[in-house]
Amino acid sequence: MEILHLKNLVKSYPDGNQEREIIADLNLKLKQGEVVAVVGPSGSGKSTFLSMAGLLITPNAGEIQIKGTNTSSLNDEEKTLFRKEHIGYIFQGSHLIPYLKVKEQLQIIQSLSDYQNNKEIDKLLLDLGISHRAEAYPEALSGGEKQRVAIARAFINHPSLILADEPTANLDESLGREIIDMIRRQVKARDTAAIVVTHDTSLLSLMDRVYRLNQGQLEEMQV
Ligand SMILES: Nc1ncnc2c1ncn2[C@@H]1O[C@H](COP(=O)(O)OP(=O)(O)OP(=O)(O)O)[C@@H](O)[C@H]1O
Ligand SMILES: [Mg+2]
Repeated sequence: MEILHLKNLVKSYPDGNQEREIIADLNLKLKQGEVVAVVGPSGSGKSTFLSMAGLLITPNAGEIQIKGTNTSSLNDEEKTLFRKEHIGYIFQGSHLIPYLKVKEQLQIIQSLSDYQNNKEIDKLLLDLGISHRAEAYPEALSGGEKQRVAIARAFINHPSLILADEPTANLDESLGREIIDMIRRQVKARDTAAIVVTHDTSLLSLMDRVYRLNQGQLEEMQV
């Protein structure tokens, strides 16, 4: 099943009194179960591209289809609901809420959707190897543990699409591999799909496909 279809996306930002085109006619298709990487130099537009795929910023032109819905037909309110239902984000820093315990971080996200299921939280924490930290506050967690909680948070509401912007940037190589491996396993187990922006070339062999963002377009790379 097709999860994401980006068609002819264009995004430019004002630069002085000109417009600078960051994304230029970008196309991408992603199916259920796929984990793809996007690499490219700093400033090439990776985060811009990911934010568009996640409906956080709107392209100047082109179409974003998620699970068959043409998202340009949604108004702002519908877009917010759609994001909540369909998209899970993982960022470079884990962005955990300082005054909530690990388990509470997940409960609060779950409470935004229709169902409450403590068993599912327990299972996800177990799958990610952090069930023993369920009652800890973020300040007491290591970097790798925080990132696992961030992964759990991204997956808890069964999103269709996971978007990760340099999720391993603050971790050493072996921890980075573990984090990607966990994202992969959850993607396969839950029939979702993921895009991982990374600078870390040692992780590329773990991906189903790798793209380089070059002059505003995605080019598939052989790794
Ligand atoms: N809101 C904005 N207004 C103007 N220019 C912007 C804006 N956001 C990003 N840019 C510019 O667009 C270009 C692409 O930025 P983006 O953050 O997408 O790059 P990136 O590939 O994610 O870089 P990095 O690897 O450093 O995270 C940069 O030159 C940036 O300065
Ligand atoms: Mg970036």
